[in-house]
Amino acid sequence: MHDGFLTYANSRYLKLAAAVCLTSIVAYILYEPVDEHNGGTVLGYILGTVGALLIFWLTWLGIRKRKYGGHFRLTGWVSAHVYLGLSLIVVATLHTGFQFDWNLHTLAYALMIIVIVSGIFGIYAYARYPKLVSANRRGASLDDLLTQIGDIDRESRQLAVGLPDEVSSLILKSCEETAIGGSIFRILSGKAVNCPSDNAFAKLRGLVSSVDQEHVLNTRKLLVLTGKKCGLLGTVRRDIQLKALMDIWLRVHVPVTVALLIALTAHIISVFYYW
Ligand code: HEM
Ligand code: HEM
Repeated sequence: MHDGFLTYANSRYLKLAAAVCLTSIVAYILYEPVDEHNGGTVLGYILGTVGALLIFWLTWLGIRKRKYGGHFRLTGWVSAHVYLGLSLIVVATLHTGFQFDWNLHTLAYALMIIVIVSGIFGIYAYARYPKLVSANRRGASLDDLLTQIGDIDRESRQLAVGLPDEVSSLILKSCEETAIGGSIFRILSGKAVNCPSDNAFAKLRGLVSSVDQEHVLNTRKLLVLTGKKCGLLGTVRRDIQLKALMDIWLRVHVPVTVALLIALTAHIISVFYYW
């Protein structure tokens, strides 16, 4: 995603969102509630309705975008979604008249803020991570990297034949037990704990000087190969980490949107029920 959405159509949606915010703020300042500002005043109802309509509309845009695919996402849709989504911070907050309690209304508000904050992270992720992904892979595809690791493993196994157990067992472990991925936390950390390949590399370093003379050459070759493999594994783990970071916010954004819609509907029904 390029940054075109920020200034799409002469910043049409930025201006629209700014106008919505400004009008809400001016109305809030000028309006004199009988008691105090809150969601139940005339202005409160108007701002609440605008906020709810915006939320339903943003969700609908999100669903519709899926049908349009890539192109639509790059321009108008993201622009409208981002700016009007951000304007909700002003509209919904003024609707509440800054009255928050531990209740369903505040739950709806908190969910909305989570959706917005995750959306901001999404924009940041789309702007930042694709560059990091290509810089990290330096032109190679993930498949290329995995193939190279496979080739190194094959070569290492051949070299390890006939070498002392202490060397060959390290290589065997490195080939058979090295894992990529794992739990979501492991993936997000981009690192592996007790990676058999890192382990083999560290131990082979010491063994190069202690194995019998006849095995030195092959042990040294294994050290070089394992070092290369560790480098490749680092790149792969970073690649998977960056893709997970690019994705994770959406796993908050979408489910919390669903929760928000439920809480908001309940909020609206409850205020009319207690009217
Ligand atoms: C059709 C749309 C909406 C209507 C009719 C509406 C109605 C109301 C009413 C009547 C109140 C005052 C309740 C009271 O004083 O007990 C209120 C308060 C509130 N509303 Fe809304 N609202 C709407 C949309 C929204 C939206 C979009 C949000 C945010 C996601 C929201 C969050 C809140 C919060 C946080 C309060 C303050 C609760 C408190 O005083 O503790 N409302 N709303
Ligand atoms: C309460 C307000 C918001 C709601 C209800 C909402 C809802 C949604 C929904 C339903 C989607 C579709 C996700 C999918 O299935 O592909 C979406 C996507 C998205 N939202 Fe929001 N959103 C809101 C605010 C924001 C804000 C403020 C931002 C950014 C500052 C934002 C950034 C995005 C982005 C970048 C996508 C695109 C994801 C993609 O194309 O893969 N959203 N949003």
